[in-house]
Amino acid sequence: MESKNKKLYIETLGCQMNKSDTERITGIMSHFGYEAVENEEDADFLIVNTCSIRQLSEDKAYSKLGVWGKRKKGGEDLIIGIAGCVAQQEKENLLKKFPYVDLVFGTHNIYELPKILKEGEGRICAIRNEAIPEEEFNIIRNKNINAWLPIMEGCNNFCTYCVVPYTRGRERSRSVENIIKEFKKIVREGFKEITLLGQNVDSYGKDLEGKPDFAYLLSELDKIDGDFRIRFTTSYPTDITDKVIETVKNGKKICECFHIPMQSGNDRVLKMMNRRYNVEEYAKIVNKIKENIENVTVTSDFIAGFPSETEEEFQDTIKQIEILGLDYSNTAAYSPRPNTPAGKLTDKFIDENTKKTRLQKLNEAVKKASFNSNEKFVGKTLEVLVEKVKEENGERILEGRLRNNKVVHFKSKKHDIGDFVNVKLNKASIWCLFGEEKE
Ligand code: SAH
Ligand code: SF4
Ligand code: F3S
Repeated sequence: MESKNKKLYIETLGCQMNKSDTERITGIMSHFGYEAVENEEDADFLIVNTCSIRQLSEDKAYSKLGVWGKRKKGGEDLIIGIAGCVAQQEKENLLKKFPYVDLVFGTHNIYELPKILKEGEGRICAIRNEAIPEEEFNIIRNKNINAWLPIMEGCNNFCTYCVVPYTRGRERSRSVENIIKEFKKIVREGFKEITLLGQNVDSYGKDLEGKPDFAYLLSELDKIDGDFRIRFTTSYPTDITDKVIETVKNGKKICECFHIPMQSGNDRVLKMMNRRYNVEEYAKIVNKIKENIENVTVTSDFIAGFPSETEEEFQDTIKQIEILGLDYSNTAAYSPRPNTPAGKLTDKFIDENTKKTRLQKLNEAVKKASFNSNEKFVGKTLEVLVEKVKEENGERILEGRLRNNKVVHFKSKKHDIGDFVNVKLNKASIWCLFGEEKE
């Protein structure tokens, strides 16, 4: 299977892990002479890297395929592929549904791409049920200052609403040596911020010999020389150990930011979601983090309108966002997913309008909490890593983030992308802070 001009375009629709997969696919394809292009019109090999976390994300993939299908029917010589979590979930159904698609490959098949491309004939569906060991390939990373580094993949938690355990399989950790090797390479390439990725980073190492834990991995990476920051995501509330909190507190390069999805602020709903904690336990961990680590932020995810959630139970969520002082939260209306236990509770589904209203209320609460959180940092001077430069009314405005992940804007004539700058924070808005550079 080969395209004529060997120009590759990948549309990436999912989470950071999905984006990291795109970089891996790009790297592998480069071994076959494929050049990644930014404009899909210029490519003759098109891949959509899909996400199935919600129906909305799945639909985005289908509409992209529709556009590409039209081009192909119009006579263009294109190869069209589907990768990612929808591919893993829907398998050959996708070949049936989209007659113009040439290739479907799953999340466990990325390292097999060379073989698939070399030997494959006709229309191909390559889906494995289990992961194969990773191979060494050059990864072509996006050329900015932030790099993603998966340390583990998969999930054993089986929250009742979630498709990830079915699309990513069971938890698998990469070896400490492999991670350190890739990490050092990323630092050599000049990246300034490296985010360690895993569906549940706190489970790191449980499947490895000697059981190196996440705190150990973090402290080893923190020792590596260079000017960079380390981030990590996602944490499961009750799996965060005191040792991890200590390591973040004492680490020189580890950023003070925890993403700990709470999902709901009501114990009954949490139980129905198969989350292994209650509100009290969640609060305990958040408070411990906030008491121990200076300038830390804790962010979360929430789902509005989980099957059977009452208005009162939903209000518990709104209350917790304020009580816990969560710094920022992602929100979503519940979306039934195939094969998940919650997806079968059809008689308990909340109607679309109610879900929409709850989502709006949730977003209002998040906005308020985000503003309150930003205000707490006004008056402080903290380090910003510059990520963007804009010209506004003849002035250079820099945008970057604090170690705790808050976005900051400030004016500067001399600094540029990739610089670490101390900024005095003067003003808060809902989503960011404004400040001035300190010598
Ligand atoms: N591994 C991470 C995040 C996984 S998915 C964790 O455990 O938190 C990211 C977020 O998507 C979840 O935190 C959840 O809030 C949301 N999500 C997952 N499935 C969903 C569904 N069926 N409907 C709505 N939101 C969902
Ligand atoms: Fe999904 Fe739950 Fe696993 Fe997160 S912990 S990926 S929400 S099953
Ligand atoms: Fe990520 Fe979406 Fe898959 S959130 S793991 S790409 S279902």
